[in-house]
Amino acid sequence: MSLTAQNHRIPLNDGNSIPLIGLGTYSTPRTTDKDACYRAVKIAIDVGYRHFDGAWIYGNEEEIGRAFQEKIADGTVSRNDIYYCGKLWNTFHPPEMVQPFLEKILKRLNFDYIDLYIIELPLAFKPGDVMYPRDENGKYLYHPTDLCATWEALELCKDAGLVKSIGVSNFNRRQLEQILNKPGLKYKPAVNQVECHPYFTQSKLKAFCESHDIVIVGYSPLGTCRDPLWVNIKAPSLLEDPVLNCVAAKYKKTSAQVALRYQIQRNVVAIPKSFNPERIQLNFEIFDFYLTDEEMKTIDALNKNIRHVELLMWNDHPEYPFNDDY
Ligand code: A2P
Repeated sequence: MSLTAQNHRIPLNDGNSIPLIGLGTYSTPRTTDKDACYRAVKIAIDVGYRHFDGAWIYGNEEEIGRAFQEKIADGTVSRNDIYYCGKLWNTFHPPEMVQPFLEKILKRLNFDYIDLYIIELPLAFKPGDVMYPRDENGKYLYHPTDLCATWEALELCKDAGLVKSIGVSNFNRRQLEQILNKPGLKYKPAVNQVECHPYFTQSKLKAFCESHDIVIVGYSPLGTCRDPLWVNIKAPSLLEDPVLNCVAAKYKKTSAQVALRYQIQRNVVAIPKSFNPERIQLNFEIFDFYLTDEEMKTIDALNKNIRHVELLMWNDHPEYPFNDDY
């Protein structure tokens, strides 16, 4: 299949499809200008991006919605051209909260439906509007997690026409199997969104997902912003990798473009975040070169099995997903 800037969708197991490149929108609110996300989404639409990955917890869904509405109103795109992924936050796992939460997302975006709704983490927190509930000692307040019950509520959202596809994020194999083996399963997860880049290739989880027709969406495809407050920076910087830079030089590209091209060539959806106009453009210029099989294998071999996004503050949650091999 030849991938182009205009058409780089791959099929999902429910008959829908997903663009292989999307704009990530998480940015630390501490250091991000108000409106930065709004401006980035508008620029990205002009560049040609159609897929946008967001979440309630990022605190900028209204900005994204405003950008969408303006680009629809000025005729650059129609609603159907846009692919938006929204995420169910940890404090809204109880089944009766799943659809009302989605309705709040729709209201923020001013949309009738979203394209993809995923469970952001397999970690239920104390339900309610306090996003990071803690006790007086600062300890996180968790809630019994019933992934199957939450999943059934997502299935109902799809049946209600509020979302086209449903999926999960940060699920390990065991947690995926819980859903896949659920008696009466109506829809399989269409995607599992996980950290994925040349230093963390996820080859085992990818093979498992592929065997069940589940697409991997790879977050942090450039190795994150390396903010020491929440990123494990023990791994060297991905974009400075000599091998990636050597391949990049051959094609007159950047290491970032090679890292993104690597993902889309192996059918992993990549959602690089950038709010910088030049880098938004560069990250989309990955349809005019092709990595050879040998180069793909060389990049595969860069895997260091090092996770940048470990979420260690929640590693005492009974469903913490990252203790298993994959
Ligand atoms: P910025 O928004 O200033 O461009 P990831 O998608 O792996 O989480 O990486 C996001 C980080 O990488 C952000 O800090 C982003 O900063 C930066 N970034 C995005 N695109 C590029 C690029 N082409 N080259 C270098 N850094 C980039």
